Amino acid sequence: MLNGKNILIGITGGIAAYKICELIRMFKRANANVRVVCTPNALNFVTKLTLQNLSQNEVGIEEFDLNEFKPEHISYADEADIMVIAPATANTIGKIANGICDNLLTSIACAFKKPVIAAPAMNCGMWENKFVQENIQKLKNAGYTILEPESGYLACGYEGKGRLCKLETIFDKTVEILNSKKNLAGKKFVITCGGTIEEIDSVRYISNYSSGKMGIALADAAYEQGAEVILVSTVNVERAYKVEMVKSANEMQIAVEKELNNADCIIMAAAVADYRAKNIADHKLKKTESNEFTLELVKNPDILKGLCEKRTSDKPVVVGFCAESEDLIKNAKEKILKKGCDYLIANDISRKDIGFSSDFNEVTILDKNGGIKPLQRAAKTEIAKEILKEIYG
Ligand code: C5P
Repeated sequence: MLNGKNILIGITGGIAAYKICELIRMFKRANANVRVVCTPNALNFVTKLTLQNLSQNEVGIEEFDLNEFKPEHISYADEADIMVIAPATANTIGKIANGICDNLLTSIACAFKKPVIAAPAMNCGMWENKFVQENIQKLKNAGYTILEPESGYLACGYEGKGRLCKLETIFDKTVEILNSKKNLAGKKFVITCGGTIEEIDSVRYISNYSSGKMGIALADAAYEQGAEVILVSTVNVERAYKVEMVKSANEMQIAVEKELNNADCIIMAAAVADYRAKNIADHKLKKTESNEFTLELVKNPDILKGLCEKRTSDKPVVVGFCAESEDLIKNAKEKILKKGCDYLIANDISRKDIGFSSDFNEVTILDKNGGIKPLQRAAKTEIAKEILKEIYG
């Protein structure tokens, strides 16, 4: 299953460290090459000799224990296909999230550019700590796979969430990541997300309830499958790929069109306002004596339609979304023709259990050749993978 794969295990100083001896054996049985690096604290729970014997490799602990020309943290990072930090203590998570490199393990993590799995384990109070949670979020944003601890009886005597997840979970995730196909490698995706923000004056704007979740899920999925991704977003997200923040439809159009000739695929998942204020006041508009206020609006550019008209070949593939509250398929069929895009993902926004702020969606994929493929209700992360599969197989 893991024939010839190079797995770097990072063990930190928590009681669950003893369980990692068995994890090393599981990886070895699956024919992986295993190297272990420990924090000095981890050796309070497990011996260097045990880890050395099980991994059949030198165990790295001291940062300046150089026996080769290459600094150790670089050579460890270069060799490995994946780094698995288990157990990951609050201390080490905090250091990595803040770029601190004060031992061999944290220095390797800092230099590491390939996938990292971290399986935190700690006392439940530590796990719930606000700063620990912020650091976990930082790691997630940077593309780390976090295998959350489980609830149950903890070694410290408390009952709660903090126990290392099952070794099988760590093993299976490692296999999944190492064997996942990078079938979008070499492709460039530009994906928009969120509702556009159309200013009225210096303090007010027109917008909509779009959360951006569908676009973000698509960007994450494309990135995981090896694509280069630019997320053109109105919502603030931190990711390992490039996020270009925009506000208005006009700004979004500029950001997307500058990639028209470089992109392989453009997905317009953003909820672009159809109209914007004709004049944006540079000061706060004053309330007047009148009971009425008229705001003059002008039409925004149709970015999606513009992209399809401006492309000079069948590249990039252009994908649009449409949100309808009635006659979904009939309207979607008309829209794909009107816009000229290759795919249109149709959403029924009359349903409360899917769409806008929800983590779930149920969509129908239409293609320019008349194909119609309904997808069952599923998490947006799953819908995203299905959409990419439909486009690139
Ligand atoms: O025309 P309608 O708003 O229904 O079309 C939705 C699709 O068109 C979405 O993909 C959306 O991102 C895109 N759109 C656009 N420019 C607009 C309005 C919508 O690109 N001004």
